[in-house]
Amino acid sequence: MPDRTAYLAANWKMHKTTEETEGFLAEFLPRVPDSPSPEIVICAPFTSLNTAIELCVQSRVRVAAQNMHEADEGAFTGEISAPMLQDLGVHAVILGHSERRQYFNETDEALARKVPVALGAGLEPILCVGENEGQRDGDETEAVLTRQVEADLAEVPDARLSEVVIAYEPIWAIGTGRTATPDQAQEALALIRSLVARRSEEAAAAVRILYGGSVKPDNAAELLSEADVDGALVGGASLDPGDFAAIVEAAG
Ligand code: PGA
Repeated sequence: MPDRTAYLAANWKMHKTTEETEGFLAEFLPRVPDSPSPEIVICAPFTSLNTAIELCVQSRVRVAAQNMHEADEGAFTGEISAPMLQDLGVHAVILGHSERRQYFNETDEALARKVPVALGAGLEPILCVGENEGQRDGDETEAVLTRQVEADLAEVPDARLSEVVIAYEPIWAIGTGRTATPDQAQEALALIRSLVARRSEEAAAAVRILYGGSVKPDNAAELLSEADVDGALVGGASLDPGDFAAIVEAAG
């Protein structure tokens, strides 16, 4: 079985000015363990990317964006392209976060185009999938995850599937303080890995799959101990350098 290096991503969402970004990193970077694992990625707002990249360049922390447009350039007012992110030194990009699906009309069709565009530009896609509360209660979780994973990765060649990081984020657990139980997280992640295996067994063994949704310092270790949980995408708790450092420690 290939070694899947743990992966911890901070999703700051629409938080932190450049000054707040500097303040966070001044506290957080000295607490980054001096080991190759876990990989640590800060998903900053567009306006803080440059500051974060400059401050992280001497560290092993990498910086990600939270969205991108699928075209390289064009008449798309207010949008940012993959080559623009790559030019800045951005390492990864969150795609398909449920907040973008919910509030900004992000579709599986668009994601099917965005994921290969990110890979083509040298950006690591962090693809988010997950069911809402009604879908979980209606026993539709498996169908929803299957539809999202199959559609969103449809245009990625089998040989590159393992370069995508997949984040399972049940919508009912995001920002609610209601975390999936380790069993629920494991079950969903095992399903997602089996969906990748339908395309390529090799990719399924190597692909990193994260859990996201109310991950905190006090529940991270338990969630991360599950067999298929390769890391976490952390929202609220990643805004505090001490809390995020404690979650990084839990993954070590
Ligand atoms: P949360 O957010 O940790 O605040 O629940 C997770 C996410 O939306 O990525």
